[in-house]
Amino acid sequence: MAAGWETGADLIVGVRAIEVLDSRGNPTVEVHVAAKRGKGAAIAPSGASTGIFEAVELRDGGKRYGGKGVATAVSNVNKIIGPKLVGMHATDQVGLDSLMRKLDGTDDKHKLGANAIVATSMACAKAAASCLGLKTHEYLGARKRVVIPVPFCNVINGGKHAANGLAFQEYMVAPIGAKRFSEAMEATCSIYHTLGKKLQAKHGPGSTNVGDEGGYAPPFATVAEPLAFLEEVVEETGWKGKVFFALDLAASSFFENGKYLVDGKKLTPGELADVLSGLCKEYPIISIEDPFEENAFGDFASFTKKHPKIQVVGDDLLVTNTTRIKTALEQGACNALLLKPNQAGSLSEAVAAVETAYENGWGVMASHRSGDSEDVFIASLAVGLGIGQLKSGAPARGERTSKYNNLLRIESFSEGSVEYAGKNFRRPVTSVPKLWRGE
Ligand code: PGA
Ligand code: ZN
Repeated sequence: MAAGWETGADLIVGVRAIEVLDSRGNPTVEVHVAAKRGKGAAIAPSGASTGIFEAVELRDGGKRYGGKGVATAVSNVNKIIGPKLVGMHATDQVGLDSLMRKLDGTDDKHKLGANAIVATSMACAKAAASCLGLKTHEYLGARKRVVIPVPFCNVINGGKHAANGLAFQEYMVAPIGAKRFSEAMEATCSIYHTLGKKLQAKHGPGSTNVGDEGGYAPPFATVAEPLAFLEEVVEETGWKGKVFFALDLAASSFFENGKYLVDGKKLTPGELADVLSGLCKEYPIISIEDPFEENAFGDFASFTKKHPKIQVVGDDLLVTNTTRIKTALEQGACNALLLKPNQAGSLSEAVAAVETAYENGWGVMASHRSGDSEDVFIASLAVGLGIGQLKSGAPARGERTSKYNNLLRIESFSEGSVEYAGKNFRRPVTSVPKLWRGE
């Protein structure tokens, strides 16, 4: 437990869940945890291009909200989880999470719901921080040294996040050469706005309609075209050499009968790898997430070996799951973890995944979900654990900007030393701070 528990200020006195809405208008779980001297609340995010191995979100089914209601998950918190947590220390994150795992009793948390458990888990951490008079990121580890992650902003949306027929899901800009986080956001916004004007000029007014993560979603003819656009925009805005590109293919979403459907063609894994190698040669790409479908450890491994300088990130492949991370490590399948706490289903399991990644020299990118909310926990967690990268969509729509704004506040108000991860984005720190567990 984190220091401070001895006084009993962090004893949990009440837990209450309610149903609120995510950014797609679907219900999600919000949990409020009250402790003796503080409180915290958190909202479970929700994916669209979810990995099949993720911890399971519990949905009610039936007619209400098209089957997407979370009344059962809410009731599981109020009737099963909450009463058991009362009287425990909010700072005992590992104890709280393992009790919830035990109450659920399944490997994938489908009985009580990963949405119920993760929201409670995050709310406990926020309550613990408040009891100790700390900000969430300070409680999670960033007290003396504060590292602000590089924003990987998804300015062009495709895949399951848009209806434009573009196979690749995310085209991100990463201002690793900015001097500080606030400058990185200035670069990102200037690129986002200039891109919007250029798209309108070429594709007409409807081309700046946005996808689920706030990025533009015009009808591109090929997966290469967005990169050509972005390259021009970066040059025009004066950020060349400081802003680089990253992709998330979310390749499981266009994988069918052993082939990848890209630009009207059916590609073998080898042909898709060649397309990606070509793009890496032509454009300043520093990171590629899920270049192949979620079971393709072997194809990931050959690609990672062939491109030692590119960060290869596992999202659907790893689902923030330590067992799958170990398989990927054995096979050399990738070299970075995408961190989504709701894939693991609890905070301490998510932190364990980060620890495994760091111990093995991997990078880590913290991530929002396409269905997200005003909750900024993921940004606080990134700073707390010294994670050098955060993806939270485009600099548009409140559920996306709330995370970036949280980082702007941390950068402005931190009293200790503040660094921008910048070019060290893959590994600004070498181990997870132990403060949150009091070790
Ligand atoms: P999701 O998308 O939240 O819809 O899964 C994000 C991602 O694939 O990284
Ligand atoms: Zn992804």
